[in-house]
Order: sequence, then structure tokens, then C-alpha cells
Amino acid sequence: MTVRIYVPKDACAIACGADEVVEAIQAAALARKQPVEIIRTGSRGMLWLEPLVEVATPEGRIAYGPVEEGDVAGLFDTGFLAGGAHALRIGRPEEHPFMAKQTRLTFARCGIVDPTSYTDYVAHGGYKGLERALALGPVGIIEEVKKSGLRGRGGAGFPTAIKWKTVADARDDRKYIVCNADEGDSGTFADRMIMEGDPFELIEGMTIAGIAVGATKGYVYTRSEYPHAIAAMEKAIEVARQHGMLGINIAGSTHSFDMEVRMGAGAYVCGEETALLDSLEGGRGTVRAKPPLPAHKGLFQKPTVINNVLSLTAVPHILADGGEFYANFGMGRSRGTMPIQIAGNVKHGGLFETAFGITLGELINDIGGGTASGRPVKAAQVGGPLGAYVPTWQFDLPFDYEAFAAKDALIGHGGIVVFDESADMVKMARFAMEFCSVESCGKCTPCRIGSTRGVEVIDRIVAGERREKNLEVLKDLCQTMKLGSLCALGGFTPYPVLSALTHFPEEFGDTPRRLEAAE
Ligand SMILES: Cc1cc2nc3c(=O)[nH]c(=O)nc-3n(C[C@H](O)[C@H](O)[C@H](O)COP(=O)(O)O)c2cc1C
Ligand code: SF4
Repeated sequence: MTVRIYVPKDACAIACGADEVVEAIQAAALARKQPVEIIRTGSRGMLWLEPLVEVATPEGRIAYGPVEEGDVAGLFDTGFLAGGAHALRIGRPEEHPFMAKQTRLTFARCGIVDPTSYTDYVAHGGYKGLERALALGPVGIIEEVKKSGLRGRGGAGFPTAIKWKTVADARDDRKYIVCNADEGDSGTFADRMIMEGDPFELIEGMTIAGIAVGATKGYVYTRSEYPHAIAAMEKAIEVARQHGMLGINIAGSTHSFDMEVRMGAGAYVCGEETALLDSLEGGRGTVRAKPPLPAHKGLFQKPTVINNVLSLTAVPHILADGGEFYANFGMGRSRGTMPIQIAGNVKHGGLFETAFGITLGELINDIGGGTASGRPVKAAQVGGPLGAYVPTWQFDLPFDYEAFAAKDALIGHGGIVVFDESADMVKMARFAMEFCSVESCGKCTPCRIGSTRGVEVIDRIVAGERREKNLEVLKDLCQTMKLGSLCALGGFTPYPVLSALTHFPEEFGDTPRRLEAAE
């Protein structure tokens, strides 16, 4: 009897040797005359267990991980095809504590389905949202998204329904849906995982957005570092077209919508929505002054919805289950679930989708298992390179936009990078300024010049040169960057700098020293 084996085709799993494991399984099966069918899936998100190999048994899928090429013969010997005992046996993946504690809506199918199988997608609840969207029509769709309380998952947390309504109300011959899949924040990988593991979900979300606002064309803007995501998206787009779910008269309706993937060269600033539009139009990514808003004059000067992958992939669930169902999760004005990415120096890194309200301490210590190095945790940078360093004494902070803002911190795209006690916070502060100087688009002075001056001032402080005076200059410079920058690259760089200074002032101490560049 043919046994089904599931192995992720996710970039992380491939980097950990998934392709070699597949070859070893095929060779071992052939040698033993045991027919197997290998299905390549996305990742479940338990990244420390990759490559995670799952076998279909009468008791459900049984997982083994992390599997190396050299483990395969031993797995066959101990009867893993029947779910047999082995040192790498994890058991049923959905019962693993890391999975069992999650509320998976956006990631419900990721790691389970064959990402480019339309049949699999539909069998696991796919296109139910679109079906309801077609029945509701544009006004009804926006009303449902409004009820859900969905806020943009790309960083700013702007209410999605307001953005969609603005584009829906704009009168023009052409409108666009642009998906921001640039994913430049450090420690983030959720967009990539969804594009590789459940690309139809993004296609469905963008199609619903198109119907809601009257747009007929969509673009996914992502980076050249994501070749597996690009391949999976392009394949899924082709399959969706073949099934009449993209193109003219989607699903037999009067609506038309088509989309394509565009690749940027991987500049951090090209994740900023207006720089992204410049890049998408073929120019150099430079931030545009607002107004006009992209919702009025966006791509090619036409009304444009720009949303992050996670905002758009929440939409099919909101439509399928209703806005109220989605809004039941979360706290305060942060409604629904957030796919949180736990990374850095952490034992159990990965993708953890949960309702807003969970604390940082729970995420890092209980779920993440503390540091990978075994040393005590010192701080975590949340929200990418522009996010604050949150010290352990603030780990009771709940994951909530407003609670984070009250502590001069930000949730951003939900990335957490953990540091142990060996982290040098002065280096981290210097790195924030240096990163800004390298990635600045150069349009405004506080960011372009300020970040370079920031690096110099920090160097003077640690060299013990007029320390008190230079600390004042650094704070003053941060204030100028916060207030005078055109976009959040210059405007938020002060947050990691000032958080390091506020929480770890002793490290900016009196003993002069020379800094080596941060790793
Ligand atoms: C420097 C900079 C980089 C950004 N990078 C990203 C990114 O990689 N992905 C993203 O979705 N949003 C990014 N943003 C936020 C976008 O400008 C924009 O707010 C977002 O795409 C809107 O989508 P949302 O409402 O669904 O969050 C960035 C912003 C700045 C200032
Ligand atoms: S803050 Fe920096 S990245 Fe943003 S517009 Fe100004 S120079 Fe460009």
C-alpha cells in the first residue's frame, strides 16, 4: 500500500536539508520496494524541528523532526511509515504544545495542504470567503471588514476598512490592489511562509479586496531573496486562472480580477508604501510626500489599496466566518489574531498565531523556551529594526498596539528578536543609526544626515568624549528625527536608540571603549 509522506518545501525547511531528506526517503523506499507518495507542503512553523517529516497513518499524521538525511534509513528500520517509535518522533503535530496553544486562522492550512493544489485548498475551506463576498457585494464586504476591526498588519495598524472605503469611493477608470510582501523587518517571515505554504489564501484575499473597491488588477510586490515564495505564488496564480478564479468573470460572476508578482531588489525602504509604488512603476524607491494618499493617487496615479500579506490573508476568514467572529478575538482596539514570529537567540523559534493580548513573557519564555544559548534573556526587539528594545522587566506587556505605544514600543509586523545577557546595547543603538544611514532613501535631511551624525555621536559617547554633552546631542538629534522625518524610517529609528539608552544607561557608561560593528 502506498504511504503518504509530507515534507515541507518551505525555504527554511529547504535550508535545513528538506530536499536531501526527500531524496533519501525516495531512495530508501525504492530499495525496500515500499511505494510512497511524497507531498511537499508549507511549514507548520515549528522551525527548530525542520525538516519536519509527517507520515499519514490511520491515527492521523505522525511527525518526526528534525530529520537529517542520515536519519532516514533508521526511520524506515523502526517502522516510521506506520508511525512507529523513534527518538525523533514528535507525535501528532497539532497536539504539540507549540501548536496546541495557538489560534490558527490565517495559518490554519499552512503545513497541511499542498500549496499549489486547488482541490486541497477548496477541501480545507478555501474560497468560502469569496463565495460570501460575491453574495454580499462591495458595500457588504467593506461593512464585514469594518465589523472585524481588522488593522493593517504591515506595521502602522491602520484600519483596513477605512482604506478600502476611500478607494471604493474614488472615481477613476482604473484602480489597483497592491500587496506589500516586501517583508523587510528583521525577524519576520510570516509573509514568506504564507506565500510558500498557502498562496491561494493571498489570491483569495486580494480578489475580495478587488471586488470591494472596484479594482481589476493586483500586484504582489516582494523581494528577490524570496525565490521559493515567488515560484509558489506564480504557480498558484496560474492554477487559479485555470479554475476561473482569476481573470474575466471570476467564479462565473460579473467581476473580473487578475494579478501578477513583481520582484524588488530588496531595499528596506521599498517596503514603505509610496517607495514601493515608485519601485513597482520601475523607478528608484523613494518616499513620496503625502497627500495625495495612495488611496487617491497611488500606482500610476490611480486609486490604490496597499495592504500587507497578513492583512489580505485575514480577509477570506473574516468573510467566511463573519466580521463579528473575527472581532471576538483580541483585546482593546487590537482585534483578531496576529501571526507572531519568534526569532533571534531563542530555543523554540517559529510562527505562533494567537489572539492579541498574549504577553511578551509568555511568548519568549513559555512558548519560545527562553534563549537558545541557555543564558538569561536580556531584551527583545519587537517590530523590526525600528522597534524598541523591550527589557525583561517589561515582559508583562500584552501584544496590543496601544499597550506597546504607551511604552514607546511598536508591534510592527509581529517580529520578536530575542537577545541574551551578552548583547551589547550600545552596539545595538549604534546599529539602528547605521542601518538607517544605509537604508535611507535620502529624501529628507533628518534621516539622511541625522542617522550618520547619530553614528558619530554614539562613537564619541563610548570613546568618553564629552560624554554628558554628547548624550544631550544624541537625545536632541533623536527628537529632530522623530519630528522632522518624512517617513517612519527616519521617524522611528530613535526608538531602538532611545530604548537602549533608557533601559540600559549603565552601558553608555563612563569607561571609554571602542565599538566593533554589531554582528
Ligand atoms: C521603512 C518602512 C518599511 C516598511 N516595510 C514594510 C514591509 O516590508 N511590509 C509591509 O507590509 N509594510 C511595510 N511598511 C508599512 C507600509 O508603508 C504600509 O503601512 C503598509 O504596507 C500598509 O499595509 P497594511 O495597512 O495592511 O499594514 C514599511 C514602512 C516603512 C516606513
Ligand atoms: S525618513 Fe529617510 S527614508 Fe523616509 S523619506 Fe526621509 S530620507 Fe527617505
